[in-house]
Amino acid sequence: MSKKSLAMVGACAAAAALTLTACSEGMGGDGETGDILRFSLNQTEEHPSYIALDHFSDRLEASTGDRWSIDIYPNETLGAQAEALQLVSDGIIDMAVVSGAQLANLNQDFTVYNLPQIFEDVPHQMEVVNEPSSITTDLFTSLEDSQNITVLGGLTQGTRSVYTTFGPVETPDDLAGKKMRVQESSLNIAMAQALGASATPMAFGELYTGLQSGVVDAAENNEVSYFTQKHFEVAPYFTYTNHLVGLDYVIINTDTLQKMSDDDRELFRQEWAETWQEHTDLWEEATQEAVQGAKDGGATFTKIDTSRFDDRLQKLADQSITTDFQQALWDDARRQTGQD
Ligand code: GCU
Repeated sequence: MSKKSLAMVGACAAAAALTLTACSEGMGGDGETGDILRFSLNQTEEHPSYIALDHFSDRLEASTGDRWSIDIYPNETLGAQAEALQLVSDGIIDMAVVSGAQLANLNQDFTVYNLPQIFEDVPHQMEVVNEPSSITTDLFTSLEDSQNITVLGGLTQGTRSVYTTFGPVETPDDLAGKKMRVQESSLNIAMAQALGASATPMAFGELYTGLQSGVVDAAENNEVSYFTQKHFEVAPYFTYTNHLVGLDYVIINTDTLQKMSDDDRELFRQEWAETWQEHTDLWEEATQEAVQGAKDGGATFTKIDTSRFDDRLQKLADQSITTDFQQALWDDARRQTGQD
């Protein structure tokens, strides 16, 4: 049995345990009988993504007169993001949040929005991905034929920084010989190396134990995940390397989206627009609360001069663009900063 089939069996078993009954049929219905969109999320119920998506469900139900609603399964209940991606593609579940790293494994062009230094800040990122130009729309529909996946838009991951079990890091030299957990993609492996560490790809849900047991010495993420996943308990040194404004995507099975009536699809898109805006509004406060919560739990937050990291990351960004389409995506995003 292939690795992929094994992952599917595991995920279907998890789904069955949750009395999701249709492991061989699509879950999205025709919107006539009150259809429920099964949604996989790897965050906790305290995370802004869960809160905003939960409100998405409430509003969708109200605006479509109960024809459509969303059931969110948080905490990797339906599997890690790699499995969730496959389940959406196969129509076993309908929707998921997946990090840019996961989509880059299906289409390298997604790497561009994962590059260090493409987005100035969260508002710039949200404008590029949620008020999409035609080239961004081409990217977001690029998986429809091959994977049956449509990208609805993005939720920010805020700015990602490094945290460790052993102490603050001032320069890339401090990470030499250290193992850093990364998301599972070639760009993320190269990024850890650019930061000075050696890379260990690992699913998000395995990271707490990975840090606790010493399988890895470091990781990188935003303050919100650092706190809500309790990583501060086992890696109490957070250093502001600010190496990436990270991006999550909300994806939906293309057949499910097509099954909606035109009116319901329009309502769905309108409620989605409210959702990413609410998520962005929640983000800053959640970040402040996370920092305070982690400090209360004993973590330290260190600000540094990031120039030695920045130089290496700029080189990585330059090397990672290899096609005209990728260059056009980069140029289009940078044009929206008004600076390049
Ligand atoms: C962030 C992001 C997740 C991602 C995680 C990771 O928390 O929101 O979607 O899975 O980082 O590093 O794996």
